[in-house]
Amino acid sequence: MSRYIIWSLLFITTMIASCNSSAPLGSEDTSDSKIYNEPHRPQYHFSPEANWMNDPNGMVFHEGEYHLFYQYYPDSNVWGPMHWGHAVSNDLVRWEHLPVAIEPDSLGWIFSGSAVFDATNSSGLGSPENPPLVALYTYHDPVGAEAGKDDYQTQGLAFSLDNGRTWEKYQNNPVLENPGIKDFRDPKVTQIDQEIWIMSLAVKDKISFYSSNNLLGWEHLSDFNPDWAAYGGVWECPDLFPLTTPEGEQKWVLLVSINPGGPNGGSATQYFIGDFDGKHFTTDQKTVKWLDYGADNYAGVTWSNVPASDGRKLFIGWMSNWMYANVVPTQVWRSANTLPRSLELYSIDQEYHLASRPVKELEMLREESQVISGQNITLEQELVELQLQSSAADFSIEFSNPAGERVIIEKKGDTLFVDRTESGLVDFNDGFPARHSAAVNGLGIEELRIFLDRSSIEIFINNGELVMTDLVFPRERYTQLHLKGFENENQLHYLKSVW
Ligand code: FRU
Repeated sequence: MSRYIIWSLLFITTMIASCNSSAPLGSEDTSDSKIYNEPHRPQYHFSPEANWMNDPNGMVFHEGEYHLFYQYYPDSNVWGPMHWGHAVSNDLVRWEHLPVAIEPDSLGWIFSGSAVFDATNSSGLGSPENPPLVALYTYHDPVGAEAGKDDYQTQGLAFSLDNGRTWEKYQNNPVLENPGIKDFRDPKVTQIDQEIWIMSLAVKDKISFYSSNNLLGWEHLSDFNPDWAAYGGVWECPDLFPLTTPEGEQKWVLLVSINPGGPNGGSATQYFIGDFDGKHFTTDQKTVKWLDYGADNYAGVTWSNVPASDGRKLFIGWMSNWMYANVVPTQVWRSANTLPRSLELYSIDQEYHLASRPVKELEMLREESQVISGQNITLEQELVELQLQSSAADFSIEFSNPAGERVIIEKKGDTLFVDRTESGLVDFNDGFPARHSAAVNGLGIEELRIFLDRSSIEIFINNGELVMTDLVFPRERYTQLHLKGFENENQLHYLKSVW
């Protein structure tokens, strides 16, 4: 049985259960909660106003706005018939919610995909004066899936002529039929020159590349699935894009999300650095590389059409893990995104790696900053950013609360750990209370930047050269910070809510 059929059954069962009882799924009492101030509600991460969200989709910059679409089920707080929810921002930090952008139709539910600005109107769906935004997404036909067919995922297209406010489906959908493979989804489109669009598609355990000159007809180019890659689960949500090395050379990066099979259990994103000749992606890489060693950064991809004058490859991920996403202890909404990050190449011993650097716009969150010294610090507020320097071989950082709950980040020898076994509510899933680890081989740790929100911790070593993103659900906020192995002058910033 595919995981989507299992989910459909789970969804029906949950709907019946929620009709019969008002028992909360977590410990959270929502009776007098105020929207955006509920327990565990992220205060500076994007989350939907209500109900279920998973992957970020269709991220495109256009006319001064960052568009964020996302896998959304508007009728429940567990996964179900997928729509594209929608929000916009001018700065990647403060978001305005917009109505649902794309709804299911007779061809199926609307799974993940991407959006591009068709500046030359190559699709003919707009006009030279008003070229369209074009979204490519996967149709998931639940009827075909339940009937045991193989070809129930196809690629569809919708376009917008009013800055993404309304979307029209292309009349000849689907634009890419299914060749008889169950997992055939998550089209991510990029333009490699004025004439050519390239689509990366997740096809079971490989990435297939297609090309088109009008976004409507697609020709298969090649497949990528090296022997040594991670294959612990199905491949999903690819993203192929060029990046310039610090030395000025152009390389191509391919992101591939995989579930399960991540380095710390469940879902995670591997990446490949190589070359793309317009048809084939090739790499000299021989070992698996992970974008984030925490358990909670999945299905992330980059924004298209960010102006060359900005030059960044901007990324956001879904801050959860399929291992427990449907049962995390929130009720009004379920899931948030990671902080936005800029993806950049850096090298160790002449080998390239991908850094995820927190975007500079996040500095606008800082409300009050202080220099801290000593080992024990009382946190006066709950939204915290720390900037720490360490030259010690080993160090530790512990956030704790009067209820005895704590999360510990520590470096011992060549390994960085995040221990959330006693971090708060943990027993909603056996895989959640864990001690996650990441090898720091070859990376001289100089500084750490840590972001604490109401239900997440993001750790950026050396400005994102090693990253760990983890959810935590403390019953009350962490009020104490205990530091070991740090220099005497470190920075503590209290952050403000964006809601
Ligand atoms: C990844 C994913 C995608 C799919 C979507 C369905 O989390 O499984 O492959 O398109 O979620 O919601």
